[in-house]
Amino acid sequence: DPALVEAGEKVFRKCKACHQVGEGAKNRTGPVLNGVMGRAAGSVEDFRYSKALEEAAEGGLVWTEETLGEFLANPRKYLKGTKMAFAGLRKDEDQAAIAAYLSTFE
Ligand code: HEM
Repeated sequence: DPALVEAGEKVFRKCKACHQVGEGAKNRTGPVLNGVMGRAAGSVEDFRYSKALEEAAEGGLVWTEETLGEFLANPRKYLKGTKMAFAGLRKDEDQAAIAAYLSTFE
């Protein structure tokens, strides 16, 4: 849905202080988010994740629209001990838009 992707690009402004996507994207405060949808959590090479995220990854966490939405709604509640210092994305529609946007980057 192109409209949802476009909405997601706007919502992504909230993430840009820490994350990059697209060609030439690099790890910053947060890991590169290319290809994140459908992928195992904690799998960007050369990024130092928190113990909390590493443990979730070992437990089999995969980023889907559902898990990403729950994480973004309240990162520090979903993943106790995460170093992602982001207050949260409360609206379901914003979560869906972000998932659609991130799905466009392989
Ligand atoms: C981790 C998305 C905002 C810092 C992650 C991960 C995702 C994500 C999917 C896990 C990546 C993986 O498993 O490889 C987002 C989105 C945001 C957002 C969509 C906006 C809605 C932010 C902001 C910051 C930040 C604003 C910095 C203040 C981090 C850090 C991690 C992380 C440090 C690693 C967490 C850990 O190791 O516990 N983010 N993020 N993120 N993000 Fe964000």
